[in-house]
Amino acid sequence: MKKKVDYVAVEREYVFGTWRYEYAWNPLLVEEAEGSYFRDIDGNRYLDFSSQLMCSNLGHRSRRVIDALSEQAGRLCYAAPSFATKPAAMLGEKLAEITPGDLHKSFFSLGGAEANEAAIKMARFYTGRTKLISRYRSYHGATSGAIALTGDPRTQYAVGMSGVVRAPDCYCYRCPFGLEYPDCGVNCAEYVDEIIEMEGEHSVAGVVVEPIVGSNGILVPPDEYMPRLREICDDRGVLLIVDEVMTGFGRTGRWFCVEHWDVVPDIMSMAKGLTGAFIPLGATIARKKIADFFEQEGNLFCHGHTYSMHPLCCAVAIAAIQEYIDNDLIENARRMGDVLGRRLTDLKEDHASVGDVRGKGLFWGVELVRDRETKEPFVTRREKFLPNTLKRVSAAAMERGVYVVNTINTLIVAPPLIVDEEQIDEGVQVLDEALKVADAECA
Ligand SMILES: Cc1ncc(COP(=O)(O)O)c(C=O)c1O
Repeated sequence: MKKKVDYVAVEREYVFGTWRYEYAWNPLLVEEAEGSYFRDIDGNRYLDFSSQLMCSNLGHRSRRVIDALSEQAGRLCYAAPSFATKPAAMLGEKLAEITPGDLHKSFFSLGGAEANEAAIKMARFYTGRTKLISRYRSYHGATSGAIALTGDPRTQYAVGMSGVVRAPDCYCYRCPFGLEYPDCGVNCAEYVDEIIEMEGEHSVAGVVVEPIVGSNGILVPPDEYMPRLREICDDRGVLLIVDEVMTGFGRTGRWFCVEHWDVVPDIMSMAKGLTGAFIPLGATIARKKIADFFEQEGNLFCHGHTYSMHPLCCAVAIAAIQEYIDNDLIENARRMGDVLGRRLTDLKEDHASVGDVRGKGLFWGVELVRDRETKEPFVTRREKFLPNTLKRVSAAAMERGVYVVNTINTLIVAPPLIVDEEQIDEGVQVLDEALKVADAECA
């Protein structure tokens, strides 16, 4: 009889993981996926209630994307970025069409971190200034510049680029100023103006934000926040750089999250849903004025990777975008998002551990607390990498066939944009059970 290979053991032995203690890793072996579900090696089926890492927006196994991949692979897998290719040209044109305002010219890389590295360089070359303002509760990627912008616990393990100044978070449930909306006057936005004043506007290149903070807890800003940041940046001659890596491509019920507030950033980074995560790709798109700046003699955009403008990845992104359009997935995210938001909010009634439920479209956070009065969290930033209550809730959901990501103190519920009402019910019913684990640990 053929010996069964223990692939988990083999991977543990030979492959480093991401953001984990190596010795504590005990994963499921994933074998295949289709639609909103994936299966492990033993054939057990799981509802993907977080789109893997909030990236499999199209669900799994899209025929159009697979065909585009194999068609392009059969024609041209790779060309040096010094050549032009049809997929890069067509994708650049398409992104100018679907992104807001006069966002116009794109640089293509391989993921979110690289997209933000390109944004940093663009902003610094364009303004001739070095400082960047970002926030504590943020994640922008693992590479040197992107991790320096990042303010979440992961940044404490890295020394990245210098020149980053942090602004207060826009976190109404736990306002850093101890204020309450709307009496707060959206102080978290106003304070950015104070920071620019103190740092010296001549030295600040840009303000970098996720329009809804993702892996630091699905923090939805008040409606005034993004427009006010836009105003402050305009008044100060500072660029507004928006990281739509997680929020882009329909996740929040619009193509891009900034559209909820009619804000046009100067530079926007994206990845994840750009290809539906079928293949890696990042993009950094800049407004016309920035594109024009680099058209002038002597203004060099000194940047690049071997795999920039990779034809295979660009061809897949074009097919993915067509999938969003033909299947009306942005609209489905909006409609199903309303259903999901209602169902999750209802969980508050039966679960003492549910402190706050917030989100837009198919991008929801369920923040858990030991005590609703004191808002004492189950998990603090220091405990992110340790076994904790949120991880136990996710494990309980997994045992019942639903995969849901946990991040510090919040569950991230973000199913693929193809999700239907029945699947939402299936996922929420399991969460209803799994939350009992946290309820039992309430004060
Ligand atoms: C908002 C945001 N920006 C950037 C990144 C980094 O993307 P990548 O992991 O593709 O480098 C992430 C990843 O989760 C993200 O959520």
